[in-house]
Amino acid sequence: MAFLNDNYLKLKAGYLFPEIGRRVRVFCEANPEAARRLIRCGIGDVTEPLPPAVIAAMHKAVDEMAGRETFKGYGPEQGYEWLRATIAKNDFPAARGCAVADDEVFVSDGTKCDTGNILDILGHKNKIAISDPVYPVYVDTNVMAGHTGEANEAGVYGKLVYLPCRPSNGFIPEPPKRHVDVIYLCSPNNPTGAAANRPQLEAWVKYALEHKAVIFFDAAYEAYIADANLPHSIYEIPGARECAIEFRSFSKGGGFTGTRCAFTVVPKSLNAQTKSGELIALHPLWARRQTTKFNGTSYISQRGAEALYSPEGKAQADGIIKLYMGNSDTLRVGAKKAGLKVFGGVNAPYIWVRTPKGVTSWQAFDKILDEANVVITPGSGFGSRGEGYFRISAFNSRVNAEEVARRLQELKW
Ligand code: MLT
Repeated sequence: MAFLNDNYLKLKAGYLFPEIGRRVRVFCEANPEAARRLIRCGIGDVTEPLPPAVIAAMHKAVDEMAGRETFKGYGPEQGYEWLRATIAKNDFPAARGCAVADDEVFVSDGTKCDTGNILDILGHKNKIAISDPVYPVYVDTNVMAGHTGEANEAGVYGKLVYLPCRPSNGFIPEPPKRHVDVIYLCSPNNPTGAAANRPQLEAWVKYALEHKAVIFFDAAYEAYIADANLPHSIYEIPGARECAIEFRSFSKGGGFTGTRCAFTVVPKSLNAQTKSGELIALHPLWARRQTTKFNGTSYISQRGAEALYSPEGKAQADGIIKLYMGNSDTLRVGAKKAGLKVFGGVNAPYIWVRTPKGVTSWQAFDKILDEANVVITPGSGFGSRGEGYFRISAFNSRVNAEEVARRLQELKW
């Protein structure tokens, strides 16, 4: 009899979004009338079609696949050089203090996969710090890898160091007083919509350098930063090249949730230690991991991603981001008018809402689904400190965002 990975048995319930999907399906089957007016603001999935520049580039790439001379088989596992160079030049400009070389960029098919897979190149003895609430993938992948103890009733896992995110710290965690080896930061944040400023990131880089820790910086929502003073990359902070890996995605900024393309930056100057204390660069380890376990992102997706950097692509993607952020304003204002306490939604497409007194996250989910026929995400699904909150996603049409804002105001709590 084969043995299974016991760590999977420690996971609490199903993964958050399939679980929400399951509950919504049950609701819709039982309430066909309500199902017809259902509006989904749960999972942060884009709703608008890909920018025309991306479509044109992908059509061209498909045509190339049809000719013997231009056909592409396996591509480089780390991504095509033309895309890596375009990313390094556009996303990490020297003018903002960044210095990322083309070959420090690893193109992939998603930040979700990369933030999970990155654990392959780290050991099992690390003290891991994770914000609470947080994108559930960080916790669940550490559970799967055996880096945690069991979870308690509230879903708090032994051995992890939780970094509380609450109104008093603007939902941006402070470095802990104790030592940790690995830190997950997400800015702009999923789920709270908060975005870290420069002094906050400087404090983290300082901590990481002092503790020889590695920061996993998830910047999947970077395109939504509206405030010109906020950093877009952790590499804008001096010293970050020695302590941070950055994850970026074309999903939310370019509409690629279904097309799949993302990238991870592993600076060559970032080291971790062996059991005997020898310092080794992580860059060749990640390259080794990717060349062994990954065969690259499709050529067509990479050509589509490249088109997002053309003048037309940039303008078109900006237009879509403006639409979503206009929705965000509408939803924030609507939720406030409904008497709810509202956070985020200014530099991120997520609005983080306090549930009325005495109402749990899942009770709020049920009430909003039953009475307003709107799907939101219960805050407790993002961690124990998400209890008492819910998240509204601004990824939708303007008409739907306005309708959700209206329905929220009709609810009697
Ligand atoms: C979310 O809704 O939190 C995200 O869409 C999930 C993801 O990006 O995987």
